[in-house]
Formats: sequence, C-alpha cells, structure tokens
Amino acid sequence: MTRRTDRKPLHLNAFLMSVGHHEAAWRLPESPASGGTDIAHYKNLARIAERGLLDSLFLADSPVLMGDPGRRPASKLEPTVLLTALAGVTEHIGLIATASTSYNEPYNLARRFASVDHVSGGRAGWNIVTTAGADAARNFGLDDTPLHRDRYLRAAEFVDVATKLWDSWGDDAVIADKESGVHALADKVRKFQHRGTYFRVDGPLNVQRSPQGYPLLVQAGSSEDGKDFAARYAEAVFTAQQTLDEAIAFYKDVKERAAGFGRDPEGIKILPGIVPVIGDTEEQARALDDELDRLIRPEFAVRQLSKTLRIEPERLELDKELPEDIPTEDEIEGAKSRFTLIVELARREKLTVRQLIGRLGGGRGHRTFAGTAEQVADTIEEWYDAGAADGFNIMPAVLPSGLELFVDRVVPILQERGLFRTEYTGRTLREHYGLPRPANRLFDTVDTSAGHLGIALTEVS
Ligand SMILES: Cc1cc2nc3c(=O)[nH]c(=O)nc-3n(C[C@H](O)[C@H](O)[C@H](O)COP(=O)(O)O)c2cc1C
Repeated sequence: MTRRTDRKPLHLNAFLMSVGHHEAAWRLPESPASGGTDIAHYKNLARIAERGLLDSLFLADSPVLMGDPGRRPASKLEPTVLLTALAGVTEHIGLIATASTSYNEPYNLARRFASVDHVSGGRAGWNIVTTAGADAARNFGLDDTPLHRDRYLRAAEFVDVATKLWDSWGDDAVIADKESGVHALADKVRKFQHRGTYFRVDGPLNVQRSPQGYPLLVQAGSSEDGKDFAARYAEAVFTAQQTLDEAIAFYKDVKERAAGFGRDPEGIKILPGIVPVIGDTEEQARALDDELDRLIRPEFAVRQLSKTLRIEPERLELDKELPEDIPTEDEIEGAKSRFTLIVELARREKLTVRQLIGRLGGGRGHRTFAGTAEQVADTIEEWYDAGAADGFNIMPAVLPSGLELFVDRVVPILQERGLFRTEYTGRTLREHYGLPRPANRLFDTVDTSAGHLGIALTEVS
C-alpha cells in the first residue's frame, strides 16, 4: 500500500440516521420502535460518537415525509431542534444538520444556525442542500421540483445572504458598558440591503456573531453544478463513491475546482461515505449484511427505485437487470449524481434488480463494506493514502450497535496507526477539522467604508 507523504489525522463524521442506514435495520430486536423521534436514542448515539472522539455528527433532512412510512420509520425530528438537545449532552463533538435552500428563507435559517452555534459553544455545521424531488416541492406551493440549475443558483444567493447576515455583527460589537449605557456599538451592527434575483434582505440579524463566526459550511451534491457549488462555498463535502478510482477522481476534481475559485484546496475536506458492517470475522460480518438484505421487502424497494430512476415500477423485474432504455442524467431534475451512481453500479456489476435493491438498501448508494474491524481500518487507510479522502462519513447500517463497534474497535486501530486523534485538542467544529475561523466580510476586511459589498451604513435602532 502506498503511504501518503503528507499524512494528517483523518476526519470522521457519524451520520446518524434513525435506527441505522440499512432500510431493514428497524426490524432487528435492538432497534427502538420510534427511532426517528426517540430523544434518548439520539442522546445515546451522540455520546457514543463523542466517546470515539469523532469530529462531528450529522443529521440529514428533507421537508417532506421521506420514503414509505409503511416500510420503515419515516417520522423524524426537525434536526436543528434536535441538535440543541444533543449540544446539551455533549461537550466537544461538532453538530451538523441539513437545511434546504429551496424551502427556507435566509433570515430564518441564518438565525437558527447562529443560535445552534451559540447554544453549542461553536460546534454548529450546516449541510447546504437544494432538496430534490417533487414531493417536497408540493409542500411549498409548487407542482414540481424547481429546475436543478435554478436550485443551485438560488442556493448560491442564499449562502451569500446568510453569510452577510452572520457578518452583520462585528465580533466586538457588544461591549455591554453599564457605566455609559452603551450595549452594542452602533457602527458594528449593520444593515446591508441585499437586492438579488431570489432575495431582498436588509439585515442585520437579530443574533450577534456566534463563536465560530458562522457554522461550518458543508455540502453534499456531486453533479457538475453541485461540485462547483462545493468548490466555491463548502468547507466539508459529503459524497457517495462506490469505487476507489471514482473517489480519487472526485477528490481531485473538487480540490482543483476549489483552487480555480482562488481557495486553498486544504480548506475543503472531502468525506466519502462508508457503511461499515463489522463482525468478529469476515464471515460473521457478511452474514449480518445478508441477514439485513433478506429483511428488505422487495415490493417497497422497487417502488422507491422506480421513483429515483424515473421509470414505471412494472418495468423493473426483480430477477433481470435494469432495462436498457432509462432516462439519462440530463433528463433528471432531482438528485443527478445519485441517479448516475445507481445506474453505473447496476451496469458495471451486471446486477439484477433484486441484487441492486440489496446493495442500495444498506446505504442508498453509499459503499457498504462488511468485514472485521481491522479490514474496515485497512480500507479507510487505503482510500486515505490513495488520495481519495480527507476523512470519512461513517454510516452504520444498524444503530446504536454499528456505531459502538466502529468507535470501540475501529477507532483504536486508526489511533494506533497514527491516523486519528487520541484526544480533542480543539474547541470548535472548525478547529476539529483544522479550518480557520472565517473573517467577517463586513468588518474585518481592509475596506470597511459604506458601499463595500453593497453595504449601506445605517444606524441600527
Ligand atoms: C452523505 C450525504 C448526505 C446527504 N444528505 C441530504 C439531506 O439531508 N437532504 C437532502 O435533501 N439531500 C441530501 N443529500 C443529497 C445531496 O444534497 C444532493 O441532493 C444529491 O447528492 C444530488 O445532488 P446533485 O444533483 O448535485 O448530484 C445528501 C447526499 C450525501 C452524499
């Protein structure tokens, strides 16, 4: 195995999804019946992840009832609310949640994440998604999902406005001088009057600048527009990659795009997902994986697959390969890169529909790896050394047991190999990821005169 010459500790994120990433996990005896809304369950997971010294935990989200509630637990807590509860039972671990730029307004969301950053003492992260799918659109007065390109254009303007809002308070704005009666310096709290294509926002925010300045910006889209967006704004990228070669190409591509935007490629951390199924022996791990796949109800899974591929469910025959004539990525307005990943996986490995839904059931397109703790550590090391990752998104098939096994068995091996921290040395989420606190674009830059970045100096009442 080639060893990377510039070895730094890996970054590990725990992607916590209800009772596990495998769609049949809820059917195992260990799984709490209402995993998605069980706060005790989530607190337990957060504590386990922190015991393992992981950089962060992550909660995915979409403003729609995802999947089929008849098939698996679909009820979920709103993730920023859940993060505040998890902040209360942890001290170090970063807390990342998804929020949609298509179905929120920048003011509400900037306020929510600034609040989480305050509540957690600087541990908040925002996974910026554009939300694919007509079902979500229909909850917001639309008939179908906005076009892919438009969603990313809105996302870019959204992030621009959100960062202006977070920057609308200087770090030293609040002086709370009881003697003089001045609480905040008026010239350190500014309106900025954003007038764009999608938003008209005056600011300032009604929350002062938070410990990290603003939350860590995370992104998870892998289409061409998605990669450009990540390269411009993201500090961490979650991605689904099935093969080492594809992961290396993606890593290189995003880092080069970041450099193209004038950014330091080190300032954007790339974390492919891995669904580790861990056993005492490889056979035991494979047996658990097979057992989980046997618990999938194919009729439900086929329906889901047909939605993703945008073809009629009747055209998917369980013991045949995918039909030849299915849409191309260009025709997909939803999650483009996931569509392509699934089709390529099926074609490359000549999978029948039954085999394909088994593969997707474990991680919806993320790479499943069944083996011993040593083998999981080996594959992590191999991908890292090959230049495919700065870290990994750990997506246990079953929760809590999969996370416990990872933390108690894989983490110590990575530590022994000098690949992972043995204590938290940073205080904030950005410090865990080795990233700088962002400068305040309104107050820390050289030009602080009126008109800078379209800002108009205004006395704040
Ligand atoms: C690890 C990971 C987590 C994701 N979490 C969410 C999520 O919480 N909500 C969501 O709408 N999309 C989520 N996505 C999907 C992406 O945001 C994106 O929509 C998808 O990858 C397609 O993007 P693309 O059209 O740019 O390829 C996630 C993707 C990955 C890889």
